[in-house]
Amino acid sequence: MYLVTGATGQLGRRVVRRLIALNQPVRAFVRLRSDYDLLKQWGADIFIGDIEDVRDIEKSYAGVNYVISCHASKIGSSRIQKIDYRGTVDLIDQAKRNGIHHFSLVSPLAVGGDRQDSPLLKAKYEVESYLQGSGLPYTIFRPTTLMSSLLPLAERFQQTGVYFLIGNPEHRLQLTSPDDLARIMVAASQMNITHDQIFSLAHPTVMTRQEIPKQLGYFFNRQPFVVNIPMAAIDGARHLIGLISSDLQTEMGTLRTLLAYESLCPDPEIERVEKLFNIQLESLEIFLNRYLGIGD
Ligand SMILES: NC(=O)c1ccc[n+]([C@@H]2O[C@H](COP(=O)([O-])OP(=O)(O)OC[C@H]3O[C@@H](n4cnc5c(N)ncnc54)[C@H](OP(=O)(O)O)[C@@H]3O)[C@@H](O)[C@H]2O)c1
Repeated sequence: MYLVTGATGQLGRRVVRRLIALNQPVRAFVRLRSDYDLLKQWGADIFIGDIEDVRDIEKSYAGVNYVISCHASKIGSSRIQKIDYRGTVDLIDQAKRNGIHHFSLVSPLAVGGDRQDSPLLKAKYEVESYLQGSGLPYTIFRPTTLMSSLLPLAERFQQTGVYFLIGNPEHRLQLTSPDDLARIMVAASQMNITHDQIFSLAHPTVMTRQEIPKQLGYFFNRQPFVVNIPMAAIDGARHLIGLISSDLQTEMGTLRTLLAYESLCPDPEIERVEKLFNIQLESLEIFLNRYLGIGD
């Protein structure tokens, strides 16, 4: 039995769907207030709990052999310590107690960069280290930004033609398909060769931030109206927020760090993933076509 945390999230729901497609029994760890109907319809065993409560974690492990950890707090959340750090450490400890076969963890690629100003990246890095030292068979995945993060922006663009570009328009990035990542994570759990390793991944196409609205404009056949919010505005807002709440100012550090980080995955890493998992990673164009049914 697989235990999937964050099962209602962008990645977690795709992991659940993939496991069910492969006829693997899966328990979806969800919060009561979440929208988990679809997971239930697919046939997942629904476990209602909160990752902040260690008793919920303990109970969720009955009959579990594999864990795919996909839970996360929202960017800028004040719950990083409780959800991303302590909740994941508790999940790892419980995995040890239950002698599970494999534990999968996912962190943003940016975890390998400068973490100093980001409580979230620090938590992710510390949890990676904790898992590596746990003695459990594990695989850690470090994708770039998930393409599914763009879907709400694409839908708003389709309706209004407006795209909010935050940060430097020339800033480069690569994106990762969450469907590819889900497929790879599920495969890795069953492949001894991938155990105790870290995989960085992204689709090889390097884009600048300003190319995203251009690509959406092409898809929707609509001239984009780009509103650029420069880094200086983010820094100014952060400074003002700091006058009211130093906690909130600290939490905004993750947004600042991620905006300043060029999320680029080295080519040899991408080739390694494609070869090992026998997969051709999908482009943003293909991903948008599948979800929005547009383009050629
Ligand atoms: N999105 C990206 O671009 C990206 C890029 C690189 C790495 N990652 C990593 O990939 C993983 C998945 O990201 P995602 O984008 O799929 O996240 P997401 O869509 O924000 O989903 C987060 C999930 O965590 C659950 N969750 C939050 N707090 C919880 C709690 N206290 N108890 C139980 N469940 C809780 C949420 O449940 P609710 O439905 O109840 O809120 C949701 O299912 C994360 O570790 C993230 O850091 C994401």
